[in-house]
Amino acid sequence: MHKLIIKGGSPLKGKIKIGGAKNAALAILSATVMAGDVVLLENIPDINDVKVMIKLIESVGAEVEWQGEDAVRITPPDAIAEMPPYHLSKQLRASNLMMGPLLTRFGKAEIPLPGGCNIGVRPMDLHFKGFAGLGAEISLDKGCVRAHCRKLRGARIYLDFPSVGATENLMMAACLAQGQTVLENVAKEPEIVDLASFLNCLGAKVRGAGTDVIKVAGVRSLGGCLRYPVIPDRIEAGTFMVAAAATKGDIQLENIIPLHLEPFRAKLREAGVDIIEGEDCLRVKVSGSLKAIDIKTLPYPGFPTDMQSQMMALLSTVSGTSLITENIFENRFQVVDELKRMGAKIKVEGRIAIIEGSEGLYGTQVKATDLRAGAALVVAGLMARGTTEITNTNYILRGYHEIEKKLRQLGADITMVKNGAS
Ligand code: UD1
Repeated sequence: MHKLIIKGGSPLKGKIKIGGAKNAALAILSATVMAGDVVLLENIPDINDVKVMIKLIESVGAEVEWQGEDAVRITPPDAIAEMPPYHLSKQLRASNLMMGPLLTRFGKAEIPLPGGCNIGVRPMDLHFKGFAGLGAEISLDKGCVRAHCRKLRGARIYLDFPSVGATENLMMAACLAQGQTVLENVAKEPEIVDLASFLNCLGAKVRGAGTDVIKVAGVRSLGGCLRYPVIPDRIEAGTFMVAAAATKGDIQLENIIPLHLEPFRAKLREAGVDIIEGEDCLRVKVSGSLKAIDIKTLPYPGFPTDMQSQMMALLSTVSGTSLITENIFENRFQVVDELKRMGAKIKVEGRIAIIEGSEGLYGTQVKATDLRAGAALVVAGLMARGTTEITNTNYILRGYHEIEKKLRQLGADITMVKNGAS
């Protein structure tokens, strides 16, 4: 219903505080359904995806109360009243993360096949294979996944691909299984480590998160947790870093974990961006001209697919030829057509985008096709000549809290207006 209007050309300058990590918050919120007592989560971003996840856990009986701007107090359910409804599940791919907690705590889970950003097929075979390995019976019926079990049993499970969601779902399910579970070839993203730390706060016994192998010794029940701060959002931080580089700005990011940013920090440095590290802050500035680079998206600690579109926007004005290879999602080049409308010269051949740096972009009307594509168009608008109007901003609001306010704080000329207003 809203559109973003950006008048490009102002270099970003100043300090910005990064919020809590969307993907960690979504997984941890779903895990609260397994808790045995009250949980207080801090550094929770007030973004649309989080609001939907909160409704999802409320739909199965949890009581949730916001405390201040970024903390939520959750009283977990003792029994499940209902299963998550279709109208909520279809809004959020991460609704599939309710399966592991519901199944292991209550012995059953029914989840409509989830929706989310349209960036690829996104099957759930690895989740199902893993649940079956833990002893659950899985069936698919009219677009709904049903899983049930008496009690999950620990097992050795190898993931054919280090899927973030499957790793999280199986790690959560294993917490209340009988005996030990060994998960091999798992994802190593910082959000997995954060979820494991949270589960351990509740009394789970998870070891090895952040490596290829996670071992979980099942416990009979979990407790509560009176204070758990979620890690900062590395993708929000990365988006601001790219925006600073794109506008030849000079910004300082606060409330971050620099190590989590290393995969794309390295690439920005290679492109010629100056990055100066502090204790838990980073300064990003551009003093000279930037150069073309090649990027391949990979599971962590490789370059994150969630930063690929924003980097594409930046590289579209960097002289020379840059290549981006997308290895995670097959449908993540939808932003290309929108960037081309702004003057970018990009050719897609299968999973590779070939970017010929152009003189500069110009503002026009574009639409966000997914969350990170929307962020890329914001970056493009900030450096374009003239005015850019971005519609479908709902995608952007799924993952960025008050992005326009934060950018205005850094000197950008950006406003969010109701569609129809000018
Ligand atoms: C999570 C993130 C998303 C990020 C992605 C990759 C959340 C809420 N979302 O999504 O922002 O872009 O990790 O870093 O944390 N796959 C299968 N079978 C499965 C599961 C996945 O083939 O059962 C494939 C997917 O189609 C995709 C790849 O594995 O090609 C990676 O997906 P996965 O890591 O599971 O991503 P998500 O957890 O959905």
